[in-house]
Amino acid sequence: MKLQYFILVVIFSDIQGLDIKADYFIRLSNQKINKSDPTILIESFQTQHKRLCLKGCFKYDGCEYADFKNKTCVLYSYNARFYISFDSQNKLYRKRIPKNLRLVSYWPVTDGSLKDVSNAQDLYEQTNFSFISDRFGNTNSAFRIQSGYARAPAGIYFSGDFTITAWVRLNAYLNHQRLIEFGKQLYSDHVLVSLSGPSRQIYFHTYNGNIQYVLDSTTVLPLSIWHYVTFTASGPVMKIYVNGTLVANKTQSATNVVQSVNRLYNFFGKSLFPDPNANCDLDDLKIYNKELSGSEIEKEFKSDFF
Ligand SMILES: *[C@@H]1O[C@H](CO)[C@@H](O)[C@H](O)[C@H]1NC(C)=O
Ligand SMILES: *[C@@H]1O[C@H](CO)[C@@H](O)[C@H](O)[C@H]1NC(C)=O
Ligand SMILES: *[C@@H]1O[C@H](CO)[C@@H](O)[C@H](O)[C@H]1NC(C)=O
Ligand SMILES: *[C@@H]1O[C@H](CO)[C@@H](O)[C@H](O)[C@H]1NC(C)=O
Ligand SMILES: *[C@@H]1O[C@H](CO)[C@@H](O)[C@H](O)[C@H]1NC(C)=O
Repeated sequence: MKLQYFILVVIFSDIQGLDIKADYFIRLSNQKINKSDPTILIESFQTQHKRLCLKGCFKYDGCEYADFKNKTCVLYSYNARFYISFDSQNKLYRKRIPKNLRLVSYWPVTDGSLKDVSNAQDLYEQTNFSFISDRFGNTNSAFRIQSGYARAPAGIYFSGDFTITAWVRLNAYLNHQRLIEFGKQLYSDHVLVSLSGPSRQIYFHTYNGNIQYVLDSTTVLPLSIWHYVTFTASGPVMKIYVNGTLVANKTQSATNVVQSVNRLYNFFGKSLFPDPNANCDLDDLKIYNKELSGSEIEKEFKSDFF
């Protein structure tokens, strides 16, 4: 009885395997993925069958592409969708239903580019600014500001729940050193993150109109090391995570800590308040229009996708 059941399961999963391409994947001809750092590449393995390659993609919720040739299967995360280019010799398989990332903006900083690959809100006004290698050693794939900043165009960016994520490396502790300050005007509708405050700690403030909501932490980021920082707001609840671990949270007396307005002064590294420009390195800057869960944040820290 048990053996019969086992055989049935094997046959059933085999049949499912044969159908897997038609049901769950689309074949993309003449396309390749032209980047292969750990934010893009999940894994590569040898296998005899394409269906085992495609099945491999199902092990990861964030796997979106598979490339199978010459008995080699390469799996790519959803981050690869921003690095597709033409190649008449190649074909790719893409999951039929792509993940809805809920990205408002994503500045990956690659090959000396400050493009927002999700919504074309490209950075400009770079000041005391240079491209540097990222945490994987890719050249011109992160940026350094030394008493400097970069600016994002006017836009709404934040209207309800949101998440900000970034890789950051501090080169000095400056008082009220901004990672980000996006706002409508001074004292109005700021979303503001400082990587080092009066006692070197990280903090996260917002203004809904001119009403300020404050979340402080006691966490100090060591200098000269890359850290993954995350700031979330869900209704009244604000949270700060470092390397995927919650370090501070607070429930504010408001239904929403931001309002949906067109923000005109949007900076990385700079403030409208009389605070110094930042001295730090930044990479992989993202804004989502939802609160990422603790486990999504931990996954993004560990494997660059969730
Ligand atoms: C296929 O793989 C084999 C061994 O892994 C290698 O020797 C051969 O060059 C590959 N062929 C192509 C076309 O990539
Ligand atoms: C990779 O693809 C992107 C998006 O299509 C394109 O902008 C970029 O120039 C390509 N890079 C290379 C090296 O082919
Ligand atoms: C750029 O850096 C120099 C040297 O630190 C500083 O004097 C200058 O004020 C900075 N420029 C801006 C626009 O902040
Ligand atoms: C965060 O993780 C990086 C490795 O990815 C490590 O170098 C760094 O020290 C960590 N930071 C903290 C505050 O634990
Ligand atoms: C948030 O903070 C409170 C105490 O201030 C704590 O009890 C709670 O576990 C924290 N964590 C989360 C995920 O909300």
